[in-house]
Amino acid sequence: MAHALKKLSAQVIKNNNLESIISNAAVRTNSTWWGNVQMGPPDVILGITEAYKKDSHPQKVNLGVGAYRDDEGKPFVLPSVRKAEEILHKKGLNHEYAPISGEASYTDAVAKLAFGEDSPVIKEKTNCTVQTLSGTGALRLGLEFITKHYAKNKEVWFPAPTWGNHPQICNMLNLPHKKYRYFDSKTNGFDLEGALEDICKIPEGSIVMLHACAHNPTGVDPKPEDWAKLSQVIREKKLYPFFDMAYQGFATGNVDNDAFAVRLFVKDGHQVTLAQSFAKNMGLYGERAGALTFLCGDADHAAKVMSQVKIMVRTMYSNPPLYGARLVQEILLNPELKQQWLVDVKSMADRIISMRTQLRAGIEGAGNKHPWQHITDQIGMFCFTGLKPDQVERLTKEFHIYLTKDGRISVAGISSKNVNYIAEAMHKVTC
Ligand code: LMR
Repeated sequence: MAHALKKLSAQVIKNNNLESIISNAAVRTNSTWWGNVQMGPPDVILGITEAYKKDSHPQKVNLGVGAYRDDEGKPFVLPSVRKAEEILHKKGLNHEYAPISGEASYTDAVAKLAFGEDSPVIKEKTNCTVQTLSGTGALRLGLEFITKHYAKNKEVWFPAPTWGNHPQICNMLNLPHKKYRYFDSKTNGFDLEGALEDICKIPEGSIVMLHACAHNPTGVDPKPEDWAKLSQVIREKKLYPFFDMAYQGFATGNVDNDAFAVRLFVKDGHQVTLAQSFAKNMGLYGERAGALTFLCGDADHAAKVMSQVKIMVRTMYSNPPLYGARLVQEILLNPELKQQWLVDVKSMADRIISMRTQLRAGIEGAGNKHPWQHITDQIGMFCFTGLKPDQVERLTKEFHIYLTKDGRISVAGISSKNVNYIAEAMHKVTC
């Protein structure tokens, strides 16, 4: 018996050794745990900046990412933000954790900015608003919450075309997504009929993503009367409106005008969900200050939704970063600073409008026979030029002008120094 046991344990030791030899060999030959990971494509928008940075040509221009530049082509720190920085510095605040949902003074202020100070949403506290990691964080958190708590396998419907990151977020969540008609390439305008026709056929309960203003990438927004029709059909078909508002103030230069669609939908009785970003309208790109709001019908449901959103946030990043939110809050709650900020936003919107005029004049002035009116008709940060992929490629290869493959240019990247160069290049690749 003792002999048999000894033999058995010797065999076990031998087997164990063998296993460890095999697994060591596997580790040695693979040299990584990540042997199955394939190289992914560069990001369709941020990848353009990476390529631009590698280019050493003196006249290179980055019209890829939507990030505002001043007329020197330099990143712009808003005067209102500079003042808010100074005020914060003087306050000598500590660096404790923020609450899971962000500071209530911040979330209240940003909800008022979106829905309006006098909105019943604010008065009746039917909103669940949390600070998020800018607009993308709001979209991700919102769609993840929808996946978990609203309904699995519901479809998300995006306008065609839409911001490149929208479908990617759904892909990460295994959330099916489709497109409704939005941009009419024949008129370079909003395809109201197509949009209404498609939205009518969307299955009940699906999520319809709407760009609140300054549509990205087309720069084409529905008119107020078009929004009214969209609101009506979305209500009749019992669809779930999710607004992405990354450019409040950039469309018309006025933050209240740009909140028109969101406020109209609320007035029409929709329980909208809203993603907000302060990257563009406060120039806080790196601070990641944003917000997600679920309208919940009443304060009781808002509290329940909030409790679950907090659990989701706690397991993802615990609580949001404070600095950017403090700047936003300082600006929105200090009347003098807010006034300055409204002027700052208008000045950014106005510079973009003037660049549109100059770009169009430059292309037409070069004798180009194509129609370019859409450059000045479109609004917000982007112009959907209509350039074809081969023309985009030529712009980049021959002229070192970087833009996304769909022909979108960030007008905010144009300045009085480079506008003629860009106009000449666009003329040459299209004539
Ligand atoms: C853009 O569309 O260029 C911006 O929204 C920046 C981004 O993150 O894509």
